[in-house]
This record gives sequence, C-alpha cells and structure tokens, in this order.
Amino acid sequence: MAKQYQTLGEFIIDNQADFPYSSGELSRLINSIRLAAKVVNHEVNKAGLVDIIGAYGETNIQGEDQQKLDVYANQKFIQTLTNREIVCGIASEENDDFITISGCNNDHKNKYVVLMDPLDGSSNIDVNVSVGTIFSVYRRVTPIGTPVTKEDFLQPGNKQVAAGYIIYGTSTMLVYTTGHGVNGFTLNPALGSWYLSHPDMKFPENGRIYSINEGNYVHFPEGVKKYIKYCQEEDDDRPYTSRYIGSMVSDIHRNMIKGGIFIYPKSSKAFNGKLRLLYECNPMAYIIEQAGGKASDGYSRIMDIQPTELHQRAPFFAGSKKMVEKAEEFMRKFQ
Ligand code: AHG
Ligand code: MN
Ligand code: MN
Repeated sequence: MAKQYQTLGEFIIDNQADFPYSSGELSRLINSIRLAAKVVNHEVNKAGLVDIIGAYGETNIQGEDQQKLDVYANQKFIQTLTNREIVCGIASEENDDFITISGCNNDHKNKYVVLMDPLDGSSNIDVNVSVGTIFSVYRRVTPIGTPVTKEDFLQPGNKQVAAGYIIYGTSTMLVYTTGHGVNGFTLNPALGSWYLSHPDMKFPENGRIYSINEGNYVHFPEGVKKYIKYCQEEDDDRPYTSRYIGSMVSDIHRNMIKGGIFIYPKSSKAFNGKLRLLYECNPMAYIIEQAGGKASDGYSRIMDIQPTELHQRAPFFAGSKKMVEKAEEFMRKFQ
C-alpha cells in the first residue's frame, strides 16, 4: 500500500511481494532506472549552460566534446541497465537495432528486455521546456541461456510487466507502474532522493483539454478534423482548452492530472502517424490504462497490436476514457 512521502527505495522494498516470480529482479531494474534518471536529470538541468561550459573549454571526463542530450541519455540508461544481472537486451529509439546483453558469465541468463525512448521531446531542450524519458519492460520469450532475438522485443503491449516515464520539468518526477496502479515520485534535488508525491494516480474519467498539433489539420483524417471541431463547439462544458507542449510525456502527464486527451493521428503525410509503438505508445498506454484511462489507435486498443518492426509507428489517441471513446466515435463515423 502506498504511503505518501515514502522514499522510492522504501516503496520498492515494501511492494516487492507483488512480484513473487521475479525474486527482486524487477525491483532492482526499477532501481537502476531511478539512478540513470538522476544522472540524466543533472545533465538536462545544465542544458542552457552548454555553450558557457564550452566557452570555458570544459569537456567531459573522457575528454569528449559535449554531446547531444538524447545520445547522452541513451548511453546513460544503457550503461546503467547493462551493469546489472537483470536485463538481457535493450531496444532504443536511438539505436537502429537491439542490443544483446550476455550477462556477467556470458550465460544469457538474464530475464528482462527493456525498450526506451531515452529523451522524448528533445527539440524542447533548446528552449528550456520539459522533456522526458519513457521505458517499457517485458519478460523475454526465448529460452533463458540463449541470446535474445527480435521476438523478445516484438511483443504486444499487453505483455508488459512494467512501464514508466521520467519528466524533467519544473520538478523531476518518476512515474511508473508494474501492473498495480500508477505511482509518481518527485526528486528532491538537494538530497538526491525520490519521494512518493503522487500515490495511486488516476486519469479523470472525463476532461476539458485536447492536445494535438493543429498545424497539421489539413492532413488529418476526416474523423480527427470533425473531433477537433467538436472540441471547439459551444455546448455544456465546451469549448475545451487546447494545450500542446510537443513533448508527449509532458502533454500526457498534464492530462493525467487535469483530465484530457492527447492525439497524434495518422495523416496524409505520415500513414501511421509519428510516434513509435514500442518506445512511446505502448509504455504510455500501459500507464494510462493502469490509471483508469484509455489508449487506442483511433479504432482499437494500442496494447493489443502485434508489432512487426522495432521502430514501427502507430496513430495514438490517449487519455481520459470518455474523451478517447468520443474521438473513436468520430473516427468510426467519418472513415
Ligand atoms: P522525440 O523527441 O523522442 O523524437 O519525440 C517527440 C515526439 C513527441 O514527444 C511529441 O508529442 C511529438 O514528437 C511532437 O511532434 P510534432 O512536432 O510533429 O507535433
Ligand atoms: Mn519521443
Ligand atoms: Mn526521443
């Protein structure tokens, strides 16, 4: 049971009994993610100083020039997850192919694969706007003792055992689920500890915020155009408010707290939309459903899609249950 103001460390220990089969591995995995998140947070916070640091001739420990933050975040998460005997493979938005982790004795005994978007909303870095990290965890399906294969990564979202995001915002939060609801932890930067600030997060069943890049309006399918007009109509609680940060983690985080819908539809320019099914849609969908919301591709459940490609894209309609159902109604009606 979640106790407010507990530290993440205490929370993980208290809730280990939820995974009798995992003998603490899943907890250790979350532990390594919270560590990498702190390191990346530190770097993200300094983003505006990069030029100044550069001007003073500073380089990093390895003597390399400052890198792009998404590459840095990718490396940090991969390093942290590799140095533990839990993960047998990682697939990342930043890598063309998956990475095989053979484990300490080269025995391929580790059980979990991690899929991630190390830095979501990366174009917002330059303008000091919130960005995030998204992660998704599955048990491998190929036999233990053999190297991972693509099959271990191409699992439908409904097989996830954990998923979460970190939001590097006005404060830094780690929000995750292991299938027993959603809990949010806020980082106290002075102490380096995460505290349970948002226990048992719930998506409001209905909301008044719609988040979509309306600049692409002319390219949207008819159902989406009509739904946008519906959001703007004068009636009961409408018009709704439009809010779009352009960093999905931040847009969905806000909508989960206030109630709203996030849409990245297919368009005449991008047939499956932009977002990646495995690194972005599935983990967010798992969190959203665990918080009582809904996530679909406009017609059916995101987490039931059988992936065929690592970097596959999917249209994404996610958020307050009633709003997503309404948008789906428009999609069916104006096919
Ligand atoms: P990333 O930075 O990982 O490439 O993801 C950016 C994504 C998502 O966070 C955001 O919602 C969307 O791209 C914004 O796209 P548009 O600029 O096309 O609206
Ligand atoms: Mn992204
Ligand atoms: Mn990214």
